[in-house]
Amino acid sequence: MSTLLENFREPAPSPLLLLGQGRDLNSERGVECPGDLPAPSDPDLVERARAARAALGQKAFVLGHHYQRDEVIDFADVTGDSFKLAREAAARPEAEYIVFCGVHFMAESADILTSDAQQVVLPDLAAGCSMADMAEIGQVEEAWAVLQDLGVAGDTIPVTYMNSSAAIKAFTGRHGGTVCTSSNAEVALRWAFDQVGGTKGVDGTGKVLFLPDQHLGRNTAVQKLGLSLDDCVVFDPRKPDGGLTAQELSDARVILWRGHCSVHGRFSEQNVTDIRAQVPGVNVLVHPECKHEVVTAADHVGSTEYIIRTLDAAEPGSSWAVGTELNLVRRVAREHPDLQVHYLDKTVCFCSTMNRIDLPHLVWAMESLAAGRMVNRIVVDADDAHWARVALDQMLALPGS
Ligand code: 13P
Ligand code: SF4
Repeated sequence: MSTLLENFREPAPSPLLLLGQGRDLNSERGVECPGDLPAPSDPDLVERARAARAALGQKAFVLGHHYQRDEVIDFADVTGDSFKLAREAAARPEAEYIVFCGVHFMAESADILTSDAQQVVLPDLAAGCSMADMAEIGQVEEAWAVLQDLGVAGDTIPVTYMNSSAAIKAFTGRHGGTVCTSSNAEVALRWAFDQVGGTKGVDGTGKVLFLPDQHLGRNTAVQKLGLSLDDCVVFDPRKPDGGLTAQELSDARVILWRGHCSVHGRFSEQNVTDIRAQVPGVNVLVHPECKHEVVTAADHVGSTEYIIRTLDAAEPGSSWAVGTELNLVRRVAREHPDLQVHYLDKTVCFCSTMNRIDLPHLVWAMESLAAGRMVNRIVVDADDAHWARVALDQMLALPGS
């Protein structure tokens, strides 16, 4: 009889992850170190950032997602959620350089929505998104083939969250679907159900394939559209046929991709129970990337823009527990000393990839551009850009977008 040890095989060596310039197409992460980043301890860093920003003037436009560090947000010309930032980039045709302080999929969307004369720069190519990495285009094509073999692809509309690669957005464009963000997911899902063959509408017979965040898809389908949890199935790309039977796939109304956010996935229902016990009357406010039991237990659910708007409009003296990325929560708490703002999770909860963009990387990128040296440019290939644009334009045409 063989022992466990005899059966053991060394895993195949994986390529080392080096950070900085260049691009690893498989992981969207940087593969080459630029080597000349200023040290974070450089006392002249802020001055260098100011000088580089001034030297670039109108040639550059700096965008900052709400999850960016304060030191980076200080240099952003505009802040916003992923969709607002893509729109802002598209609305600045005079800017030759769009410096995107956010993550890779956001910079890709900016490249798709801006003109060919504009160049989008991501200060650190290692700023990916673990959720976007959970849906790889080959896996999605295979999942679609499963639906085709089952004869249900014709009645299925793909909808992808903004947090996905350009290739996945292009897939949805090619198959008559759309992109959505956390602020328009309900409208996007209703629109998708109206497009399918057979009996249309949320109460009809069509299906939606929702990529890549199972939580946003489930929360929207159940809380906003009134579908049941049983109407949703989870397609696991690592299992044959997604780990689902033909019957389960045929009966489902929403096929959720097995992806999640590694930050928002950490909040638990227990966090909500604990904070309610500790802070009587607290309002619990969370992002829809949180698990279903967390959003069900919360009082308010919405995108980063919604979270900021809600706290801006809150009654002075009221108490809030917020479940989203920590940079955003700390900043809003500081801006509202009249509110009691708590962080929903006890442990630190930064988005590690958002945090990769720091002042040294921003200084390096801006100084390089000011010296006429292009670095870390994000370019989406023409075919993907075309079809991803179709899906993004479809989103822009949704009512209320
Ligand atoms: P928003 O579009 O709500 O800003 O969210 C982006 C994101 O990455 C949330 O984790
Ligand atoms: Fe991606 Fe989550 Fe970070 Fe947002 S918070 S960029 S979804 S890993």
